[in-house]
Amino acid sequence: MNAKRSILITGGAGFIGSHVVRLFVTKYPDYLIVNLDKLTYAGNLANLKDIENAPNYRFVRADICDFDRIRELLAEYRIDGIIHLAAESHVDRSIKDPFTFARTNVMGTLILLQAAKLYWESLPEGYDGKLFYHISTDEVYGALELTKPEGVKSDISAHEVYGDDFFRETTKYTPHSPYSASKASSDHFVRAFHDTYGMPTVITNCSNNYGPYQFPEKLIPLFINNIRHRKPLPVYGKGENVRDWLYVVDHARAIDLIFHKGKVAETYNIGGFNEWKNIDIIKVVIRTVDRLLGRTEGEDMDLITYVTDRAGHDLRYAIDSTKLKRELGWEPSLQFEEGIEKTVKWYLENQAWMDNITSGEYEKYYEDMYKNR
Ligand code: NAD
Ligand code: TYD
Repeated sequence: MNAKRSILITGGAGFIGSHVVRLFVTKYPDYLIVNLDKLTYAGNLANLKDIENAPNYRFVRADICDFDRIRELLAEYRIDGIIHLAAESHVDRSIKDPFTFARTNVMGTLILLQAAKLYWESLPEGYDGKLFYHISTDEVYGALELTKPEGVKSDISAHEVYGDDFFRETTKYTPHSPYSASKASSDHFVRAFHDTYGMPTVITNCSNNYGPYQFPEKLIPLFINNIRHRKPLPVYGKGENVRDWLYVVDHARAIDLIFHKGKVAETYNIGGFNEWKNIDIIKVVIRTVDRLLGRTEGEDMDLITYVTDRAGHDLRYAIDSTKLKRELGWEPSLQFEEGIEKTVKWYLENQAWMDNITSGEYEKYYEDMYKNR
């Protein structure tokens, strides 16, 4: 096709990537969207069934660490924009296997940067009209204190603030887990490619996402599935840790806006000012699943099982996304109550998607994970 733009989206078969691919393929029929994914345990082409035959969509199975192949693909598809999401993304896995995180998240990002540099610098127009957009996380900023726990009235007070401090774009990087250390390192390489070679780059750091197609090793889909099957809900520590939750489609909307309107070399934080203690969000999820399954609301509370805390468990994440609102006018479109209702409904209605993942190797992995805690 004679495309207006050719965009490479890495990690497009994963959770957030699949929402970004869907948005770009449907919203921009005159762009060619190339989804490059290795299809690790977390990559699933079933996430993209609805758009897989779109004329402006291509899927390529490849590893971002394969330098020669990435170089070939950039030239073959004449890529002018890269939205880089491919990564190992689960903190618990990074604690068990940090090397894989360094390989994919650090070396993979560096390989992609170097391949893009060589390709774009070989063109007559050079870096004109090009963009390397790196998707990162709020976890690079470390952890915040929980200074106002007494302010919380009930588990449905979703908008309580747990402290006065927030992660801002200027906050010093202080990663604690092998996952966040690897993401921090990749962010530094992206900035270095801008500062050293003049590559047009942009970085965004987003809070915890939730919504359809999330791999059920992460809190919300894991717990929805366990409640459905009346399996224990392993709450780490006392369940007091605070996370800031954003509906994944709102993250994809922000990525679209920043890809088109963001300023080169800038960083934008993305978050919904929506902080929840784990135990409170878990109670909301239990009530919602119970209600939607026709059970008595709250009858599955006894599935809550406190287990040994995650090593180095960050206490609180909270993103200040006012820069993104002020400069580009982005705001989340969904209130949390609406988002969680939609999410629980989606998992309950898409049981086949879940069953397909939660058989075989998955079961074994979780048995081992909890045996070794
Ligand atoms: P995910 O684990 O669901 O998906 C990752 C995808 O990357 C998978 O499809 C996987 O197959 C692919 N991949 C992994 N290694 C690869 C390799 N070597 N080559 C090519 N593809 C590879 O992750 P996610 O939750 O969708 O996160 C996507 C990105 O967003 C990550 O960079 C993550 O750090 C970042 N992020 C995630 C969150 C969150 O809450 N999930 C929040 C902020 C930022
Ligand atoms: P997770 O979804 O793994 O995201 P992240 O670690 O990137 O924030 O976990 C969200 C929170 O839920 C985190 O504080 C750890 C906690 N948690 C549990 O208590 N039990 C679990 O089984 C999981 C997966 C997470």
